[in-house]
Amino acid sequence: MLSSIEKSRMMPTKYAYFGIGAKRWINIARSRLNASGKGINILERVLLTQKAGSIFDALGFYGYRNFSLMDLGCGDGSPLYPLLHYLRNELPKSGVRYNPIDISPDMLHAASKNVSEGFSAFGKQNKWDFDKGPFRHLTKKLEKPRFGNLYLFLGSTFGNMPDLHRTLVNIRESMGANDYLLLGVEQIVPGEIGGMLRDYYKIRDVFDLLFTPFQFFGLRHSDGEFRVTFNREKSQVEVHFTPDKELRLQTLSGKATLKKGKPIMLARSVKFTSERLAGLFSEAGFRTEMLTTSRDNNYALVLVQPVTL
Ligand SMILES: C[S@@+](CC[C@H](N)C(=O)[O-])C[C@H]1O[C@@H](n2cnc3c(N)ncnc32)[C@H](O)[C@@H]1O
Repeated sequence: MLSSIEKSRMMPTKYAYFGIGAKRWINIARSRLNASGKGINILERVLLTQKAGSIFDALGFYGYRNFSLMDLGCGDGSPLYPLLHYLRNELPKSGVRYNPIDISPDMLHAASKNVSEGFSAFGKQNKWDFDKGPFRHLTKKLEKPRFGNLYLFLGSTFGNMPDLHRTLVNIRESMGANDYLLLGVEQIVPGEIGGMLRDYYKIRDVFDLLFTPFQFFGLRHSDGEFRVTFNREKSQVEVHFTPDKELRLQTLSGKATLKKGKPIMLARSVKFTSERLAGLFSEAGFRTEMLTTSRDNNYALVLVQPVTL
């Protein structure tokens, strides 16, 4: 990990969601639950609430008994609430198993607790790093024969992944032929880039979250400066931390030096177009069943299914 930070000048975002970082994410997730208007992924909640009926109609799984929700990158589980509300109110005889899959045991624990207490949906917690490859060995054990499963990758987490194509292929290779995957992603609206960057600066909690891995090494915010920029070529928001002095990171297995004035990328968040999404899905072996966007085109929900040959 340390040598890659020194070489690639990136601190992978996935290390932010452990311990105090998990608590920070839970605070962000809670604050948006009751928020209206702007804020991280509020549009996703609105879209899921509006489209829950069409999503379940499109899946068409018989009676929704014994079907599993596989929550990839689960966070605290709250993005699923609109779908769980819909099932409880409109399909009261459905029986849902909730299987979160995440790199962080703290997030897995929080999501399982919230969903089991709020919706009586019980399942298994599954620890996995999506960068490591497919996780069919986990999902195969969670499936029930003859029942489809819905995989979810919500909260624009997909846009934070280091390799978008590889991530989709890993997910497809972990799914059964009748399963579906629902993604929530942010879209690019060219005239609104300036406003979007200003909004990032307002969310101080996000800097605290992204700084968590450095904090584990004893670094402080005051050791440098945060910057949020938009990389037009890659169509992504980038968050960098630039040390204002030389900083040393050390673990039992190695050490690294962060040079004064050399930015380290703490996160990226890709903003998609519908065309780019369509290309990514077909290259990774998915067909698109449904794509629905928010009124202002800032957010998209995409329902896809593996292509079987
Ligand atoms: C931005 S949070 C989003 C959580 C949730 N989907 C939401 O919208 O509230 C990202 C989640 O993905 C998990 N995650 C990030 N990178 C991962 C990876 N490489 N493998 C597995 N989980 C990962 C984190 O632990 C965290 O729970």
